[in-house]
Amino acid sequence: MSNKKFYITTPIYYPSSNLHIGHTYTTVAADAMARFKRLTGYDVMFLTGTDEHGQKLQTVAKENGMEPKEYIDGIVAGIKKLWETLEISYNDFIRTTDDDHKRRVQKIFQKLYDKGDIYKGEYEGLYCTPCESFWTETQVVDGKCPDCGRPVQQTKEEAYFFKLSKYQDRLLKLFEEHPEFLQPTSRKNEMVNFIKAGLEDLCVSRTSFDWGIKVPIDEKHVIYVWLDALSNYITALGYPEEADEKYKKYWPADVHLMAKEIVRFHTIIWPAMLMALDIPLPKKVFGHGWILLEGGKMSKSKGNVVDPVILVERYGVDALKYFLLREYSFGQDGVFTNEVLLNRINSDLANDLGNLVSRTVAMIDKYNGGIIPAPKQAGEFDEDLKKIATAASTKLEEKMNQLDYSNALEEIWKVVRRTNKYIDETMPWILAKDEEKKDRLDTVLYNLADAIRIISVLIQPFMHATSQKIWVQLGIDHGQGTAWEDTFTFDKLPSGVKVHKQAPLFPRIDVAKELEELEASVNKKEEQPQKEEKIEHKPEITIDDFDKVDLKVGQIMECKKHPKADKLLVSQVKIGNETRQIVSGIAKYYKPEELVGKKVIVVTNLKPIKLRGQESKGMILAADSGEQLTLLTADIEDGAQVS
Ligand code: MSP
Repeated sequence: MSNKKFYITTPIYYPSSNLHIGHTYTTVAADAMARFKRLTGYDVMFLTGTDEHGQKLQTVAKENGMEPKEYIDGIVAGIKKLWETLEISYNDFIRTTDDDHKRRVQKIFQKLYDKGDIYKGEYEGLYCTPCESFWTETQVVDGKCPDCGRPVQQTKEEAYFFKLSKYQDRLLKLFEEHPEFLQPTSRKNEMVNFIKAGLEDLCVSRTSFDWGIKVPIDEKHVIYVWLDALSNYITALGYPEEADEKYKKYWPADVHLMAKEIVRFHTIIWPAMLMALDIPLPKKVFGHGWILLEGGKMSKSKGNVVDPVILVERYGVDALKYFLLREYSFGQDGVFTNEVLLNRINSDLANDLGNLVSRTVAMIDKYNGGIIPAPKQAGEFDEDLKKIATAASTKLEEKMNQLDYSNALEEIWKVVRRTNKYIDETMPWILAKDEEKKDRLDTVLYNLADAIRIISVLIQPFMHATSQKIWVQLGIDHGQGTAWEDTFTFDKLPSGVKVHKQAPLFPRIDVAKELEELEASVNKKEEQPQKEEKIEHKPEITIDDFDKVDLKVGQIMECKKHPKADKLLVSQVKIGNETRQIVSGIAKYYKPEELVGKKVIVVTNLKPIKLRGQESKGMILAADSGEQLTLLTADIEDGAQVS
């Protein structure tokens, strides 16, 4: 086993919903790097996974009528499936709900506590009770919760704190002494300014929800999700337990990959945690740009995400991977459109690479009976072709070490284009007309095939399946000439071997037609949401479960606004010979006066609660279309049973 090691990570993604092209971008980049390092002789550890704790996930699961773990398991299975489809070669997939991780995080917490770097204090902030969230002065909008619009209160809560402030000077020194630590370097100033503005100790526990790892010394607290999440990079290696050979072997990480929005957590909190644990820092944090849509950032809530699965189904795994890494400059934002994708596939893959391979194989078929000839007679243009083809690996490696994927691929495409040009220069179809030029023709055909061999090895980290397809076409069945070292020299392809003509590697796409089709499918989706949209169902219940719910018709006799909450209405509802007060969150959709006199369906045996000081006995049913809330009205005598 090689003693050169390389440890690369992606962020661990939130399994709140299916992942989109943005997450795919980071993972595809990490995969290409992992494969590249393996190809160049490194012992690679490539880690990805999911960040499964926190209030948000607990809420999403609840909204879907499930326990957090049950809900998350489904999403995680989908994420793993996506990585399988994309042939992501990760070595380990960590879930923060894994027992090993949870135990190790507790040990890390304990270590920091024993050292005095975690202490108990009081968290003070603006609290929104219904959302169970603390907000800062700058986050609240006119004294109201930015999420639900309800008023927030100044609240104090017991909490544990990490002494982030203690590490302020060491962090500044890190940025000064190691300019390579954060890349692209353009992100450095923002971090340095943030530190210089003064670091406050970080609240690392919560008591307002319980979906998290328990604080080992105080079980009513759960550990703050970022402390839990960042630790994954070392807990996956076994730290801080005895059986941590992997940790000894792979830590420190060579690079943590992520997009720019979480760079701050990785270059301030994470290094400070590691300093406190007295262990080495990662060598590099790379914050790449965002993939945007024409309308801005992709987000599930805006409903404008690009689904990688659909792109893979239409254009294939390798085309998508190539496009992502070639089209966008890794450190910067880029805009995704179907048109750029299709044009890139056509120009670089169908035309440049695909044509080169099919033309070469077709000519070997036609002019030499399908057998790769041995080179015999050197000629003009050979040296230039060989020089460019054999110089590419060094340049590729240089670009990859800078995580400059786009230019790394450009280095390979220089060889592709040079080889295509060689066909035009040597004109094999003319040589084939003259028997006396057979030796020269053989050499030209061999050189073409050998240049393609070099290309096929170089594209391997990015387009694994395409390399294999090329090898089949060139009759390479025992990997001859396909080691990294073989890319530095020409003439490594065995001659006398039969080629196998196959379907084009990348069929040319009729862009106008394809765009039209894509548009039509989107329009169709919009017109017929009921057919295309997956309807989410809550888990099944039995008739006995349903029987427990008491539904009756009620009439709203009086209705007024809730004195303390803008979203709530307080109604007096007559149900048979009884009138009771019910508070409902429907103020956005109905004025109080519109409701008076309306008959509605009521859940009458819901446990009474107080909502912002007003008692509510029961619930008025309504249908939620996403934007509109409509009361389920029934013009029947009040008190009537609904069953
Ligand atoms: N769970 C945290 C990370 C913890 S790491 C210790 C998290 N998860 S996330 O699901 O929100 O993933 C964020 C990451 O997904 C980004 O940093 C980036 O790697 C990737 N991307 C998500 N959307 C993206 C784009 N639109 N464009 C590029 N990358 C994107 O944050």
